[in-house]
Amino acid sequence: MFYKQLKPFPKNFLWGASTSAFQVEGAAGIDGKGPSVQDALGARHPGITDFSVASDHYHRYKEDVKLFAEMGLKAYRFSVAWSRVLPLGRGEVNEKGVEFYSNLIDELLKYNIEPILTLYHFDLPQALEEEGGWSNRNTIEAFVEFAKLVFERFGDRVKYFLTINEQNVIILHGNAVGNKVSSKKESYQQAHHMFLAQARTTKLCHDILETAKIGPAPNIISVYPETCNPEDVLAADNWMAIRCWLYLDMAYYGEYNSLVWSYLCDRGYEPTFEEGDAEILKAGANPDFISINYYATMTVAAAKNDGNDVTFREGDQQITYGEEGVYRAAVNTHIGKTEYSWFIDPIGFRTTLRAVWDKYRLPIMISENGLGQGDTLVDGQVDDQYRIDYLQLHIDQMQLAMNDGVEIFSYCPWAAIDLVSTHQGYGKRYGFIYIDRDEFDLKDLARIPKKSFYWYKDLIETTS
Ligand code: BG6
Repeated sequence: MFYKQLKPFPKNFLWGASTSAFQVEGAAGIDGKGPSVQDALGARHPGITDFSVASDHYHRYKEDVKLFAEMGLKAYRFSVAWSRVLPLGRGEVNEKGVEFYSNLIDELLKYNIEPILTLYHFDLPQALEEEGGWSNRNTIEAFVEFAKLVFERFGDRVKYFLTINEQNVIILHGNAVGNKVSSKKESYQQAHHMFLAQARTTKLCHDILETAKIGPAPNIISVYPETCNPEDVLAADNWMAIRCWLYLDMAYYGEYNSLVWSYLCDRGYEPTFEEGDAEILKAGANPDFISINYYATMTVAAAKNDGNDVTFREGDQQITYGEEGVYRAAVNTHIGKTEYSWFIDPIGFRTTLRAVWDKYRLPIMISENGLGQGDTLVDGQVDDQYRIDYLQLHIDQMQLAMNDGVEIFSYCPWAAIDLVSTHQGYGKRYGFIYIDRDEFDLKDLARIPKKSFYWYKDLIETTS
């Protein structure tokens, strides 16, 4: 739909940017931090870096926050590394770790930047992994203990909490983001445990913090049918339910999406429910908002169930695989791709936002959106016009979605500064701020604002 006149962004809109602990902090093993699964897995391939130094944000957070303030950020989304505050995942607290986040939060508040805190971003403590990780039900209790510590120590200053970053990506593309499982059945048992952990922490947050707000943060996208053949439309519905609605329905209704439950039972993937689980899921199904990460849409065709539905055997969290008897991957010829083969679809951002709003009617935060690409430093400058173009197109569509009636209160693109990609190293950069290091040569890790930094600063100034 075209509008004659567009409403401007609200003056109090939370323009922000995001990072996650293991991708930005470095300082692995420093000041009492216990190892996480990300430390233990290390570099995903020879030829790319591990997470041990990353962007050294742990030591340079003051300099980074000062730059965030210069950029005009109103919000900063970061995650707490569970094993930095609880080195073994439970039990003894590492006060040095708590102090780091406490200082970071104070530093943000000093510049009137709203802290948005993600509890869990792919970095399970290795000690818990060795007990079976999310496949072990005891991890739920440990997560609640961790969340309680976070709420108690930071809840006086943090108003916005996100529970689990991209639970759907962890379950569906665990290999890309460092979660190991041996079968689909095990994945869905893990998902069930994460749902319980999320429900319990959502309730706990509301019980102990009067004014804090908390919500889930899955990766949500539109799934298009390849054609208007109803068989393709059904396949798109299948994949949309399995990939996206399962996670938001659970957060919002405290129940399994019925189509997905039928699929799980039919395939023998259904998780074991213990007595009381249904009640726990219901009791924690009252998020204050929905946060979504959006990078790209997917396009699918009808499954043929002939042993060839999985067409793309290589891929990652944004590259469509296909699933036997459920859907086939298809190519969308109407949209472009990044140099890492992720589709670029700003209009899909608008359709995604509309769909989430139509289904749940909760205020929406965008906790990730961005372009991963190699940047080049030339004469001390980075001209990342391609990133500006990408972000501007998405922001335009977000504004249109808001004109469509979708309530959105924050946009936190990925990423505030360059950091290590989940599985593609340091060369795949996302930040507004360039970090002067290569894959293995750490150089001086100097912070250099890119062209997109100045563009975002200007956008925030003119819209706020
Ligand atoms: C999301 C994650 O999947 O996408 C981030 O929440 C991640 O942690 C981002 O970095 C981009 O993905 P990648 O694989 O390019 O790092």
